[in-house]
Amino acid sequence: MATPPSFTIRDIPVYGDAVLAPMSGYSDLPFRSICRELGSAMSYTEFVPAPGILARAEAVWRRLLFAPDERPITFQIFGAKEDELAEAARRMEQLGPDIIDLNMGCYADTVALHGAGAGLLCESAKIGGIFKKLTRAVSVPVTGKIRLGWDDATRNHTTVARTLEDNGASLIAVHGRTKAQAYKGRADWDAIAEVKVAVRIPVLGSGDVKTPADIERMKQYTGVDGVMIGRAAIGNPWIFARRERRDVPFGEAADMIRRHLSLSLEFYGLAEGFSLFRRHAHKYIFAIPMADSLRNALANARSPESVLDTLGAYEAGMVAVS
Ligand SMILES: Cc1cc2nc3c(=O)[nH]c(=O)nc-3n(C[C@H](O)[C@H](O)[C@H](O)COP(=O)(O)O)c2cc1C
Repeated sequence: MATPPSFTIRDIPVYGDAVLAPMSGYSDLPFRSICRELGSAMSYTEFVPAPGILARAEAVWRRLLFAPDERPITFQIFGAKEDELAEAARRMEQLGPDIIDLNMGCYADTVALHGAGAGLLCESAKIGGIFKKLTRAVSVPVTGKIRLGWDDATRNHTTVARTLEDNGASLIAVHGRTKAQAYKGRADWDAIAEVKVAVRIPVLGSGDVKTPADIERMKQYTGVDGVMIGRAAIGNPWIFARRERRDVPFGEAADMIRRHLSLSLEFYGLAEGFSLFRRHAHKYIFAIPMADSLRNALANARSPESVLDTLGAYEAGMVAVS
């Protein structure tokens, strides 16, 4: 008998309950591909600005490239103006995403103080209008990613969640912190549970899922349909295969670093590919004891060759001492 999906986004089945969170500067095509192979159930692009889409900025459009086996693929957009968002979504749909998502969680002042990202949470009626328009503008499902509110005094996650559902959203992802919290404190899983109870559409929980056991723990605690994993997946894509990081042998981690490097160079070219890869490289070494020198060498490597040499030397040293 065929395995049933874990949840469906309108008519799109999703098989699996752990998803790589959208992360600007990290969840690009090379890293998403790695995470999908290891079990991330769907893909979200990094967020892209609606004005950049309308201005046809090449760097913005490039963030929407995806591999066919990433499906279901969600394109995430941010912006503050209803008409701009709708027109940008219409244009993005031409690239063939399965889903379009609106970011209502970015806490950066450069975004939120201009009424985009978490700035939208201050105006739930406006969110309703945007979703009404977006869902009419495109034929694919439209989803939203939110935080709990602007600050502790104005937490409005259940109101926003119901507004999204009432205006056609097909899924809500919720990061259990407010804009004012940024990443401080612990994600409030009770509040994530409140969002799940407030709506009938599927809900993904986000915030502080750090180990394979946390995936099940968050699902049990909050009742969500699936979880997003962000920071804990950087340098540790094996979390999607439900493997403990300490159980991944060094040789396998080294192979993954080489693979990530090669995917990054292939996708971006040398200069940009190497610079973006370096953000990830030292994170792969994070959990390895006694590897400070390797971590520093990777963080400061100046060329792909020096990464490969450093890894090779470290592996040879390990063989020599074992
Ligand atoms: C470097 C970084 C970039 C992020 N960029 C985005 C983004 O583009 N869109 C978005 O919805 N959330 C973004 N987030 C938030 C994550 O998707 C996630 O909700 C948050 O990190 C909490 O989950 P975690 O504890 O698993 O990291 C970003 C987070 C980080 C750390």
